[in-house]
Amino acid sequence: MPSPKIIIANHKMNFNFKQLRSWLDVFLTEVNSNLLNKSKLYLAVPACNLYPLNQTLLELDLSQSIIPVAQSISPHLEGAYTGQISIKQLDLTAGAVLVGHSESREVSNFTNQDYGQMVRLALQAQKKVFFCIGESFEEYQNNQTFAKLAEQLSEIKDLLIAPNQISICYEPIWAIGSGIQPKVESILSIKNYLRQLVGEEFTILYGGSVNASNLESTVNFGLDGVLVGGASLDAREFAKIYNAIL
Ligand code: PGA
Repeated sequence: MPSPKIIIANHKMNFNFKQLRSWLDVFLTEVNSNLLNKSKLYLAVPACNLYPLNQTLLELDLSQSIIPVAQSISPHLEGAYTGQISIKQLDLTAGAVLVGHSESREVSNFTNQDYGQMVRLALQAQKKVFFCIGESFEEYQNNQTFAKLAEQLSEIKDLLIAPNQISICYEPIWAIGSGIQPKVESILSIKNYLRQLVGEEFTILYGGSVNASNLESTVNFGLDGVLVGGASLDAREFAKIYNAIL
């Protein structure tokens, strides 16, 4: 039997906790609860929502099915880093982290080494890591995608040891939030290239303008799951995606 797909909802910088709670109520009404029992949903929320989300999931007895995910972490464990959040501080609230999402790469000066360090710290803290990589439109047009992905992966090569602790999320920057996606053949060849780089055991996900209507074409070529941003904000639409993909 094929293993269940991995689904991440990335709420980005949306919702206060009250809104997230309403989102959860609608999602739970619409989702196929058998699927939710079988396969986890990874829910990436702003850091301020991690603690109350975690508490709510415990109260609802859903903490095995829905895993709160931090959207970014610091490459440091503690110290004078105003505004950053250390993996140590997410100890009891996040089960997983996104590392290197292009929206956080864009507004920070972190280097590939820093992203490598984030992955290292998260793995040491026994958190699951979703490592995001992807090329710009210019790089895509200039056939530099493979080189860019290899460069971004180079800092974590030594860390690719435990396949169930780390997934690679291929997210072309130009496909995020744009409503545009690469051609199916292009995603397929990139997936095959990433397979060569990381090996057979690691899960490879796709993110970038995934919604309920393009889901079929996005997941039907052997990817291990999807990262859904904008379309995850509507709980009904997202439940449709979740129900369809697993
Ligand atoms: P999108 O975002 O689905 O809105 O393109 C994807 C992401 O957050 O990575």
